[in-house]
Amino acid sequence: MRLDIVSIFPEYFSPLDVSLIGKARERGTLDVRVHQLRDWTHDVHKTVDDTPYGGGPGMVMKPEVWGEAIDAIIADGRAAGSPAADSPITGSPITGSPATGSPITGSPITGSPATGSPITGSPITGSPATGSPFAGGPEASATPRIIVPTPSGRPFTQEIAQELAAEPWLLFACGRYEGIDSRVMREYGARMRVDELSIGDYVLAGGEVAVLVMVEAIGRLLPGVLGNVHSAVDDSFAPGAMRNLLEGPVYTKPPVWRGHEVPEVLLSGHHGKIARWRRDEALRRTVANRPELAAAIDPETLDKHDRKLLDELAFRVGPEDMAN
Ligand code: 6GU
Repeated sequence: MRLDIVSIFPEYFSPLDVSLIGKARERGTLDVRVHQLRDWTHDVHKTVDDTPYGGGPGMVMKPEVWGEAIDAIIADGRAAGSPAADSPITGSPITGSPATGSPITGSPITGSPATGSPITGSPITGSPATGSPFAGGPEASATPRIIVPTPSGRPFTQEIAQELAAEPWLLFACGRYEGIDSRVMREYGARMRVDELSIGDYVLAGGEVAVLVMVEAIGRLLPGVLGNVHSAVDDSFAPGAMRNLLEGPVYTKPPVWRGHEVPEVLLSGHHGKIARWRRDEALRRTVANRPELAAAIDPETLDKHDRKLLDELAFRVGPEDMAN
């Protein structure tokens, strides 16, 4: 996978040199390139921002510099034989794209049906192609998917991390100040997939830390990056058995530490009982810490034991009208 990251603070990305991601880079599983946005300015002050039209506080990042940066990186990726360059249609120029209609409405950026809960049926989920003409196919693979971190974006979820982990090429465009001139997303959204994504309901000073979060979440899903290939399927939030369930507590040796004992069942060697206990703990923790997630558990996925436990916790799952 090739990752291009554009920022006015490339130093933010030194953590990508270490740990799992750093190892993956050394091995060549991940090709990460961090770019200084100011390299594409032409004025002596290397200006990247300007005052907002319509007034208001703060500054907005200028479209011209972003356009030059993204064009150059895409050209470089193609020339360098981006992962996509293997594809048969690669050489075909992605010019004269139709893009004429309202590129924003209906583009994957916005207007995507995505607006619903990220957990219950996210837009990006399942079929990669949610109505987007760019969601797959060899032609699309000659361009990166562009990710713009912004608190105004759709929520970044484990499901989206999984989808992005399957892409050959991602370009992260880190905004600072009040954000990037919206025409940049409109311009590229007409030709390739552009997603504005938020990592949570709080405001950071810029997208850099959010991109670190996303790259770590995506990177650990790449084949060979996690030591244990099985650990990702048991992740909290992972589609499948753990959808809408948090992971329970974990223990290691010694069996007693400062008087605190490891739950006996874990020492029993009884795999069935251990699995049951872990599921109970996951349910308990989800009800306690994330009741909105617990409420969204599909009742069909609950067995008798689950329902009894939830009853004991006085917790109701599923539609209200199932009460009687
Ligand atoms: Cl992706 N960017 C910024 N600047 N703030 C955020 C965010 C992203 N997600 C949550 N807050």
